[in-house]
Amino acid sequence: MEVVILPGTKQIGKLAADAIESLLRGKPDAVLGLATGSSPLPIYDELAARHESDGLDFSQAHAFALDEYVGLPPGHPESYREVIRREFTSRVNILPENVHSPDGAAADLPAACQSYEDLIQALGGVDLQILGVGTDGHIGFNEPGSSFASRTRIKSLIEQTRRDNARFFNSMAEVPHHVVTQGLGTILEARHVLLVATGAQKAQAVRDFVEGPVAAICAASVLQFHPHATVLLDEAAASSL
Ligand code: GLP
Repeated sequence: MEVVILPGTKQIGKLAADAIESLLRGKPDAVLGLATGSSPLPIYDELAARHESDGLDFSQAHAFALDEYVGLPPGHPESYREVIRREFTSRVNILPENVHSPDGAAADLPAACQSYEDLIQALGGVDLQILGVGTDGHIGFNEPGSSFASRTRIKSLIEQTRRDNARFFNSMAEVPHHVVTQGLGTILEARHVLLVATGAQKAQAVRDFVEGPVAAICAASVLQFHPHATVLLDEAAASSL
């Protein structure tokens, strides 16, 4: 695991965008793994700026979102499908039909999860997966205790995660209890994993997953086993290392 500590979010966005740009220049039909949350936003801003100014081309790229809430009506502004579209994919020239999200509204959720796994495989797997980390060490929505071998499936959110995410909704009551998320086994198959964490509220989770034991209680610790994992931190998130 390579840990890089940078002064701020601007520099994090640039370094991550460098990795994505060099991937796309060598492999225009690369498969990107996208994450929601505030951590990846500087990356999306930088990629959108490079698309605008230098013509960074996403026209052949594919993208897979990590996770989705269950039970939000289609088009809900806080559904991750909408968030990814608003924050990133609508700002570059990736084809909308090449942007995939788990279907949190499917009548048969387990079947939809399997189809999602199948589609990732059919497109050759994820080349570069962007990740944030929850204050409880979750990646995607793999809450503490998630199996390291898990695949895309339904999960329940713990209260801490619902509280953390309540800022995006009008009230805590509106935060869904259930989600669909790529599993840790799915995420581990991405060829390069790039995790971003910023702010003092992430310092403990960062310490746990970077320096602590590899343990299911801290899902992100599984990245210690990944052959190509890059962790981009600001000084506050790195302050407990
Ligand atoms: C959500 C998402 C995660 C994300 C986490 C942290 O729970 N499912 O993928 O990493 O939030 O979000 P933030 O970056 O806003 O702290």
